[in-house]
Amino acid sequence: MPADVVIIGGGLIGCTIALELARKGVAVTLVERVRLCTEATWASAGMLAPQIEIDSRNDFFDFCYRGLELYPQYIEELRELTGLDSSLRVEGALQVAFDEVELKKLAKCYRWQFEAGLPIEELSAEQLREHEPGLSDEVLGGYLFPQELQLDNRRLAEAVVAAAQKLGVNFVIGADVTEILIDRNRGRLKAIGVRAGNDMITAGVVINAAGCWSGGIRVEGAKTPKLIPVRGQMVALRTTVGRLRRIIHTGHTYLVPRLDGRIIVGTTFEYVGYDKRVTAEALQMLLARAIKTVPALAKSEVVEFWSGLRPATEDKRPLLGYHPEVDALIYATGHYRDGVLLAPITAKLIAALVVDGTEDAVLRLYSPARVL
Ligand code: GLY
Repeated sequence: MPADVVIIGGGLIGCTIALELARKGVAVTLVERVRLCTEATWASAGMLAPQIEIDSRNDFFDFCYRGLELYPQYIEELRELTGLDSSLRVEGALQVAFDEVELKKLAKCYRWQFEAGLPIEELSAEQLREHEPGLSDEVLGGYLFPQELQLDNRRLAEAVVAAAQKLGVNFVIGADVTEILIDRNRGRLKAIGVRAGNDMITAGVVINAAGCWSGGIRVEGAKTPKLIPVRGQMVALRTTVGRLRRIIHTGHTYLVPRLDGRIIVGTTFEYVGYDKRVTAEALQMLLARAIKTVPALAKSEVVEFWSGLRPATEDKRPLLGYHPEVDALIYATGHYRDGVLLAPITAKLIAALVVDGTEDAVLRLYSPARVL
């Protein structure tokens, strides 16, 4: 079964790359072990929020911001192609503090954003409550990030898959890729396909986008990168009182209101291997923080809880580009907390690398060569 490109991993990163390559006329086969977009993509809260989550000006912030800027047009194009809507909203996000120490920490952390002229406003407790009347009286102050976006990650995944199917991507579901097939020519290694279950799929280029499973896929004669799963636990509430307009962050906890009345509360950062259990301790912590922030949520209904495994590298930066010692093998993985935010830009950069041979400067920063 030959293809121009075979992609390993049917999360949002793999699917957006497949779509982008198909748009450029490439014959793509994507192999997914279980079901499409049901791991980190499905578990995410759908926040597109580089200003809140990244606490200093660095190359990674600039990359995330580029990713954010692509989104509105990307969603529009998806809608035109599929008729599916991903509920992209520009209602902004709040970061709130409950004491002076926290407030000072936030002021220090966000100073550079004012200096850089990014959209950010400092708000008093009263101003915050005008934006979000349900906020606790104990909130002392905080910040508004008016241009942070959110979308429904599960709907986005459906739209990307539908678009890729429409453009002819061949999805092979339920086959576990254990090994990348290698050809040796005068000592140089070259990827020529994958072993998927009992089948071999040959291709001119192999792209490993298997998230925190990427490093376990063998490449005979070469090192593979180390990916660390970082568990994030989440709970969804449904409420008729205390409905929110915007995302609210307090420390590492966030409350993300969906249009259907649910509020998604996250999260944890746990190094527990591939264990996806949801624990009583984490739920207790998340619910306590949600109620502390918006007291009316005490009466809300718990409608869902789940966890996901963020794919992290040791330096918490993605791996994007060719394996330094294996021709025709690309990694697009390790997006850690920002897989949804970075999916469209990753897809565009990787597709340009494969089809046009153009290497955006960002790909040099995040080259797999730094870990292999
Ligand atoms: N980006 C959201 C999270 O990592 O929980």
